Amino acid sequence: MAADNLSIRRLAGALGAEIGGVDLSEPLDDRTIAAIRQALVEHQVVFFRDQSLTPEAQVRFGARFGPLNIHPYVAGMAGQPEVMEIIKEPQDKVNFGGGWHSDMSFLPRPAIASILYAVELPDWGGDTLFSSQAAAYDALSPGLKATLEGLNAVHSAGREYSAKGHSAQKRQSMSVVEAEGAVGEYVHPVVLVHPETGRKALYVNPAFTMRFDGWTKRESRPLLDFLFDHCRFEGFTCRFAWTPGSVAFWDNRSVWHFALNDYPGQRRHMRRVTIDA
Ligand code: SIN
Repeated sequence: MAADNLSIRRLAGALGAEIGGVDLSEPLDDRTIAAIRQALVEHQVVFFRDQSLTPEAQVRFGARFGPLNIHPYVAGMAGQPEVMEIIKEPQDKVNFGGGWHSDMSFLPRPAIASILYAVELPDWGGDTLFSSQAAAYDALSPGLKATLEGLNAVHSAGREYSAKGHSAQKRQSMSVVEAEGAVGEYVHPVVLVHPETGRKALYVNPAFTMRFDGWTKRESRPLLDFLFDHCRFEGFTCRFAWTPGSVAFWDNRSVWHFALNDYPGQRRHMRRVTIDA
């Protein structure tokens, strides 16, 4: 049984663990899937090395954790719409995911997790950073925790996926559809109670959170700015240096991530599947 062979090695104080002893391209039994799921919710982001995943195998693995998302603004692979190709070509200046965010918080029911597979990497750079929003919540004072627990926030894809948005600037290498005028605003609690662990985490992010519900943008700005600054404190983070065939699997309910764009003139090619709630 693969579950009996799994090794789990913690990587940092706040979050992150590397899982060994499993071939994700094989059909996995329920015990192994349950063990990976347990490691994911406990460590918030888990990593696998030396995998060899076709798009079909990545879809098969991801679908064991829930229905797969079809991104509303980024076209999936031909014939495999659940697989998003994240490509930065040597001539591209801007990368996809190059700012702190949690995937799909702009949906009415945000995606719970994402699985990213490294196909081709630059010779150096292109790491991904992760930040534990559970650790960020834990570190707040009782007073601010109590204030935030009473608040909801408005999320939207409008800024990121509008014509001038950050994601839209990658259109040369990725099929990003302009979302202007077509996006809704959705309200989520500022403090999310994890449905599987019961642990609380902050659930606002610089890419998709617009304002607090019932507050103006101007009123929201100072507190959001404080939180965005607080939530990326180094002590809450870990950093993953990719090698070809690596996989990162993160829990969007308690983790922010940031794709570093420090490899000008080089190509980076990843494939992501995203698990809906
Ligand atoms: C993403 O935001 O999902 C992309 C992360 C990465 O490419 O490292």
